[in-house]
Amino acid sequence: MDHRVLITGATSGIGEQLAHVFARHHRRLVLVARDPEKLKKTAMEIITRLHMRVDTMAVDLSQPDAAEKVKAFCDKNGYVIDTLVNNAGFGSFGTFHTSQLSNETKMVELNSATVMKLCRLFLPKMLEERHGQILNLSSIAAFQAGPYMATYTATKTFILSFSESLAAELHGTGVTVTALCPGPTDSHFASAAGIYNNGAFSVLPHSSTQQVAEYAYRKMMRGKVIAIPGLLYQFLAVVDKVTPRVISRRIVAALQRSEKNR
Ligand SMILES: NC(=O)c1ccc[n+]([C@@H]2O[C@H](COP(=O)([O-])OP(=O)(O)OC[C@H]3O[C@@H](n4cnc5c(N)ncnc54)[C@H](OP(=O)(O)O)[C@@H]3O)[C@@H](O)[C@H]2O)c1
Repeated sequence: MDHRVLITGATSGIGEQLAHVFARHHRRLVLVARDPEKLKKTAMEIITRLHMRVDTMAVDLSQPDAAEKVKAFCDKNGYVIDTLVNNAGFGSFGTFHTSQLSNETKMVELNSATVMKLCRLFLPKMLEERHGQILNLSSIAAFQAGPYMATYTATKTFILSFSESLAAELHGTGVTVTALCPGPTDSHFASAAGIYNNGAFSVLPHSSTQQVAEYAYRKMMRGKVIAIPGLLYQFLAVVDKVTPRVISRRIVAALQRSEKNR
């Protein structure tokens, strides 16, 4: 059987680095993102450098039927997905009432709904084989309310809760679920979200995509349920547990308030 790692959002940032990490560990890949040219470029880099099998599928994962299309593509080509990496996602920065409704809706579809659907579609085969891994991209933002990134934070809180619940349901089955919760990471994410030099992103320390991807791989392989790269962010997640929510949301609001939001 042609066992594969499926990675969404594999053409840039954390997803691209994850593709390289998996390929270095001799895993065959199926890479998914929207831009066919960027997909071809990422695949060629891996094929020429690491001589691993890489196949690609260009699809907009914010479309409601995208997950079914990805599953049909894998079935048609005989790929058995034993590792699913739900990485594709984007954010937006600013007051919710001035946000673009169509953009916020796409975000909910891509960051949360498609992740849930892909898990539902690929899990049964993993369970049949009693072997599989799911890595879902959440965020350090998932641990508290996220004023000025309200929809984005809610999608990442969904992923954290969903992944934890699945991990508990699947305990002892041979299938693990890991929620990766990075802090600010240098990628296209901030410019795509319109963050630039605003908010918490500009004051908190950043990681590189390579650091985050390598950490994620190690934790996923150990079956860790919640993986937070960096000691500072592990500490902040603990502090958040003991901080009254009214205080933490006011701190985040103060950090996130910027010229752009006044
Ligand atoms: N960077 C951070 O600070 C940070 C922190 C915490 C969590 N995260 C999470 O980490 C994940 C990866 O983000 P990143 O920082 O690596 O961002 P990035 O550099 O902007 O990469 C995003 C990837 O997702 C793909 N993508 C975007 N929209 C898509 C769509 N509608 N359908 C299919 N693919 C789509 C993009 O490719 P195409 O444009 O070709 O589709 C690209 O490959 C996201 O879920 C993000 O929320 C990031």
